[in-house]
Amino acid sequence: MEKIVSLCKRRGFIFPGSEIYGGFAGFWDYGPLGVKLSRNIQNLWWKMFVTDREDMYQFDAAIIMNPKAWEASGHVAGFADPLNGKMFNTMFKTSVGAGEEAAVAYLRPETAGGMFVNFKNVVDSMHPKLPFGMAQIGKSFRNEIAPRDFIFRSREFSQMEVEYFVYPNEWEKHFEAWRNIMQSWCREIGLNAVHELEVPDSERAHYSKRTIDFEFEYPFGRKELYGLAYRGDFDLTSHGLSYFDEETKKEIVPHVIEPSLGLDRTILAVLCDAYTEDELGGETRTYLKLKPKIAPVTVAVFPLLKNKPELVTKAKEIYQILKKEFNSVEFDDNGNIGKRYRRQDEIGTPWCVTIDFETIEKNNGVTIRDRDTGEQKRMRIDEMIEYVKSQLM
Ligand code: GAP
Repeated sequence: MEKIVSLCKRRGFIFPGSEIYGGFAGFWDYGPLGVKLSRNIQNLWWKMFVTDREDMYQFDAAIIMNPKAWEASGHVAGFADPLNGKMFNTMFKTSVGAGEEAAVAYLRPETAGGMFVNFKNVVDSMHPKLPFGMAQIGKSFRNEIAPRDFIFRSREFSQMEVEYFVYPNEWEKHFEAWRNIMQSWCREIGLNAVHELEVPDSERAHYSKRTIDFEFEYPFGRKELYGLAYRGDFDLTSHGLSYFDEETKKEIVPHVIEPSLGLDRTILAVLCDAYTEDELGGETRTYLKLKPKIAPVTVAVFPLLKNKPELVTKAKEIYQILKKEFNSVEFDDNGNIGKRYRRQDEIGTPWCVTIDFETIEKNNGVTIRDRDTGEQKRMRIDEMIEYVKSQLM
């Protein structure tokens, strides 16, 4: 774990929050490469859970809601952890308005709440037919008593959540379907060993009738990565909301299936899974075996030598071509080539393309180096582009 935390800081993925003031427990800042990794994961999630489907409605609710919403949802009374024999509510309090007008409000502890209170707005404006879902990616806040394990348990984090509304008698079928989607998602981002845990009655959240936790083997133990909950009619009923079913001409309260995925826990799991040390060319090296789709840099382009203008010019030209083809391409002419490979390995770049004298003198393509094997092959530029594209599928 220490090695991962150190790599994240050294290479610009994740820094302790407010670090120059001694840090701030439970808060973390994402640096340039952390943002790229995070965005790649969010985009992939959005595609798989939202835009590739025809039954999903995108949402983005306010972080601070009327506190009555959190009273109705049971969070004011019950969103608490035990502390010194008493229950401590972990919602962050703030105040809204000035002077006499100031009133207590809360930072949302889950993105879900903002979607439930807008159920009627979506129904009235979009006229969806059951089953359908609302989806959101956003920040959530919890005043965790013991934030720990890097970004695993923090006080500010991001969630990727779906609230899926179904006919009450069909909940089991949809629960199974989402369970399978969550497993496919884990494989999509390279997490092959995710375990399912059926959460017992006594340990479920106040709103849930059934929960499966998806657990990952972190270096500090097997811990919750995601949750899939059957929230029944708890939320819509609490907010006094219902749905007029055109088929039966009856007012009903749909039931909710909720796949809830923590973004930061995803990033941590992906980093832990990808972190590899091996021997290459007689030296030990560290690399991140990230799936090419989510790697912060897809292809890095180097001139073999930085003091040969003809190599640098050609490398910049190829860099411009590749930039149009791929999501994230980096040009690097710092230090020697060995040092550049070491950096790209550590940030998980799947391919490094080098422009050498054969490229310009013999018009003989470029070399492309594979991160995992360290092997280099010579390819024409068009061939290399096709090859990389085929690997990103
Ligand atoms: N809307 C349902 C919900 O919020 P949860 O199990 O409390 O359920 C869902 O949280 C997911 O959010 C967790 O599986 C985890 O991935 C993430 N999460 C929860 N608390 C977190 C924290 N303190 N730090 C980082 N991620 C957290």
